[in-house]
Amino acid sequence: MPATTATTVDETKAPYLLDFRGVGRRFGGTEALAPCDLTVRRGEMVSLIGPSGCGKSTLLRLSSRLDQPSSGEIDFRTDSVGYVFQDATLMPWRSVRRNVALLAELAGTSRAATTEAVDAALATVGLTDFADHLPRQLSGGMKMRASLARSLVLRPEVFLFDEPFGALDEITRGRLNLVLMDLFLEHRFAGLFVTHSVEEAVFLSTRVLVMSARPGRIVEEIEVPFAFPRSLDLRYTPAFAELAGRVAKALEAAS
Ligand SMILES: Nc1ncnc2c1ncn2[C@@H]1O[C@H](COP(=O)(O)OP(=O)(O)O)[C@@H](O)[C@H]1O
Ligand SMILES: [Mg+2]
Repeated sequence: MPATTATTVDETKAPYLLDFRGVGRRFGGTEALAPCDLTVRRGEMVSLIGPSGCGKSTLLRLSSRLDQPSSGEIDFRTDSVGYVFQDATLMPWRSVRRNVALLAELAGTSRAATTEAVDAALATVGLTDFADHLPRQLSGGMKMRASLARSLVLRPEVFLFDEPFGALDEITRGRLNLVLMDLFLEHRFAGLFVTHSVEEAVFLSTRVLVMSARPGRIVEEIEVPFAFPRSLDLRYTPAFAELAGRVAKALEAAS
């Protein structure tokens, strides 16, 4: 019989990159995140949905090592993490190309390798023709494409998204959902995606986690079985509506 280990992870599936065991976070007297267990594997896109202030951003910060848990442990299987926020945070004086190159420059990547990776990332997000524009010449959706490309250049194995499309109109959001799905299918990272949109969560994910109001806990886990690549028309099918309804009901119950 093999020796038992403390891990709760089933190693017969795809390798996991993040494993939370009883991970909680308090800020002084405030419990921001109740102890939670969560395993994220390569090739999974896991959405987190829950009421404001329930600890979603806290969970992402812990996943990125920008913050440490107050209880429990996180087993990281990679140092390669990308983080995309709702605000594109582009440097206004740098061209799109030089913004997208920024993280690679900071990481000390060679000039030739950076140029190649930047060109590839710009093509993937559809910004090749805007490489020499300044951020102020871009729409909100294009800024977010640049932000995605900037993180993509480092080829993250874990990709964290904190409501990246929350400020965009519906049509732009749908288009960017397709861009993100392309990135996901091409690079097969492990994704954690925070959103307020039930539709977006179901459309993009392999699994949706519904969190309760503060202190946040994961109250429901819903597998999303639709095959990839998915077309936006999927959103208008009865099977999609049924699943989205389940997520919406769980969210209502948790809020
Ligand atoms: N650095 C911090 N110091 C104190 N309280 C914090 C800090 N970060 C988050 N919180 C609190 O933790 C709770 C969860 O916050 P957050 O993770 O940002 O929620 P969400 O992203 O789900 O809206 C909130 O009540 C918030 O005020
Ligand atoms: Mg947040």
